[in-house]
Amino acid sequence: MTNIPSWLSLEHVWLPYTQMRTAPLPVPVVEASGTRLRTYGGRELIDGVASWWTACHGYGHPLVRKAVAEQLERMPHVMFGGLAHEPAYKLAARLAAKLPDDLNHVFFTESGSVAVEVALKMAAQFWLNQGERRTKFVHFSNAYHGDTLATMALCDPDEGMHKLFSGMVPEQIIVGVPGDQQRLQTFECLLRNRRKEIAAVIIEPLIQAAGGMKFHGCGVLQDLRKLCDRYGLLLIFDEIFTGFARTGSMFACEQAGVSPDIICLSKALTAGTLPLAATVANEKVYSAMLSESTETALMHGPTYMAYPLGCAAANASLDLFEQEPRLAQVKGIEAQLREELAPCRQAPGVRDVRIKGAVGVVQMDRAVDALALRAKFVEKGVWIKPFGDVIYLTPALVIEGEDLSTLTTAIYDVLRGR
Ligand SMILES: Cc1ncc(COP(=O)(O)O)c(C=O)c1O
Repeated sequence: MTNIPSWLSLEHVWLPYTQMRTAPLPVPVVEASGTRLRTYGGRELIDGVASWWTACHGYGHPLVRKAVAEQLERMPHVMFGGLAHEPAYKLAARLAAKLPDDLNHVFFTESGSVAVEVALKMAAQFWLNQGERRTKFVHFSNAYHGDTLATMALCDPDEGMHKLFSGMVPEQIIVGVPGDQQRLQTFECLLRNRRKEIAAVIIEPLIQAAGGMKFHGCGVLQDLRKLCDRYGLLLIFDEIFTGFARTGSMFACEQAGVSPDIICLSKALTAGTLPLAATVANEKVYSAMLSESTETALMHGPTYMAYPLGCAAANASLDLFEQEPRLAQVKGIEAQLREELAPCRQAPGVRDVRIKGAVGVVQMDRAVDALALRAKFVEKGVWIKPFGDVIYLTPALVIEGEDLSTLTTAIYDVLRGR
């Protein structure tokens, strides 16, 4: 790589998901604005990933920047135990109002994995508070819910990247996503037979993201809700990837017309500005924690939970969703992806192309050389980060049509060996 800044070396920094012995240097970025990354050396890359799906309004939207700057001046952080501040209380009320049904009770944390951990803890305690010890969670093939120990146990043990740890993390119950009658029967049979052990069922609604960008239909979510109700089980939706308009509605579950008992949000919550997450419970789950004793209370409280700076960014992001036509923009992106990625179906090694909202996936028939492809994309002036057997686009929801075309053309050209 040319133009390597003096600070860039791998002597001390440990990179994510990386074999450090063979790792190439990552791309040094000095500025991010809108849908562009500017690298050290002055190159511009059109961003097709939005920094792991966070920067929904593009990088550094002026309204978000202003809200964060003002909050920084006033009070970047105070502890949430015993002290209160407006940004968090306002944000909780706004999230509750936007979420479907009675998902009204918001517990803030600082990352997606921890939001899922809190959901698991809420679900387990829901039963404990009623005198039942239920320790199992049902999750699905191709699921990804995080990298912490409890969430690793909910990822696909074979397809996922945590298989090394199988046997070390508490084993959970994995089944195929019940997208057909046979799988649905297997799933129902499992719930019927093991319901007394099961605390909850957890799924990423409509799109399983980091587990392979797999899609399923609204019917799956409706069936899950119906069966969880039939067997008296809690249902958790992990909308850390799908939330905030990515799939074409503010939350993916809206499309199915069902709501979970607990929902997990993060990533685009602060528009990719600061790390923040929320686990939101419905009245049924919340009321199971209420009594005259702390014994039944949720014993959780991360140091930086609900920090004002992150909440200010999230409130500004919600303002943008209210003021600007994000859902219409997602519709436009979806139509353009559908049209422009379709020719990739004819490219060598491509098994399938699928689109949902602002997510475009080129499914290859085998694992790709992700690093080599990434380097080719950088040469073409785009930031696209394939993994496993998929090349995908999840751009900012504000991306201009011309920039999106540059991204889709880059994929087509690279697949064609150009
Ligand atoms: C659906 C889903 N759940 C949980 C997580 C974990 O979030 P974090 O990386 O913030 O811990 C991710 C991250 O990719 C995710 O996509």
